[in-house]
Amino acid sequence: MSIVNAKEIMVEAAKGKYAIGAFNITDLVQLEGVVDAAVELKSPVIIQTSVKPSKFLGTEVLVAIFRTIAASAPVPICLHLDHCTEVAYCKTCADAGYTNIMIDASKQPYDGNIAQTKEVVDYCHKAGNISVEGELGTVSGVEDQIKVAEDEAQLANPEQAVKFVEATGVDIFAPAIGTAHGVYKTKNPKIDFERLGKINQLLNGGGVKTPLVVHGGTGLPEDYIKKLIEMGGAKFNVSTELKHTLIDAKYEYLSAHRDEYDPGKVDVAVRDAIRKAVSHWIQMLGSAGKA
Ligand code: 13P
Repeated sequence: MSIVNAKEIMVEAAKGKYAIGAFNITDLVQLEGVVDAAVELKSPVIIQTSVKPSKFLGTEVLVAIFRTIAASAPVPICLHLDHCTEVAYCKTCADAGYTNIMIDASKQPYDGNIAQTKEVVDYCHKAGNISVEGELGTVSGVEDQIKVAEDEAQLANPEQAVKFVEATGVDIFAPAIGTAHGVYKTKNPKIDFERLGKINQLLNGGGVKTPLVVHGGTGLPEDYIKKLIEMGGAKFNVSTELKHTLIDAKYEYLSAHRDEYDPGKVDVAVRDAIRKAVSHWIQMLGSAGKA
């Protein structure tokens, strides 16, 4: 139906008190599984690639596949570049046709983060209908090429967050609030809900202008997800769960069919497992029926 940027669907989500799932994919089968779930449940969706799979598959190939699939899918779809630390590669992906770009300069000193983020914002806004995500504070764990130790993670300061958003002009904003990339080591991770609520109040209290992103979706308990949405989370990033789903589904299928050499059947099993996992997320985020 429509190729959209992340901001447009997130503004609607924030106003309606639901959130959009942003799913990291590494191949075509995963991508198809994500879209299957979104179409089945009539939900807007964000497809994400981190830098490594983006470079491996090639931006032109990825964007061509995305556009072909999006053209026939009856739901709004965004293609997002996740956690890119290189300004030049952000620009390459914007030129290629990604519709949301995350420049992750969160490991830079504050002024450097502002300068790099603003450069990408200016470029993307000139290039077309591309929204930009910036991050302040650091999310612990491992995502693609970015590793942050637990004791190095820093939560976003709400007042500084407002200054950061004003100085950079980012369209959507990811404050570090204690969520982490990868599998949580405890069942009840320590998340600073109030911090997200305060940042949301400061940025969006007078009407939604800069919707907020929650990183580290994998393993968050459902009641946490609901509370984070209440506090302003409008995009939830989910990566590790889909990697596990892909590998487990392949392993299970191959273990049960050791004498069969039919790759198409393995793909069908993976696509269906991804569809189920993403459907569960869409239900939890409340975006079913919002397309
Ligand atoms: P998880 O791998 O914990 O789901 O985090 C994903 C993420 O935040 C990607 O940006």
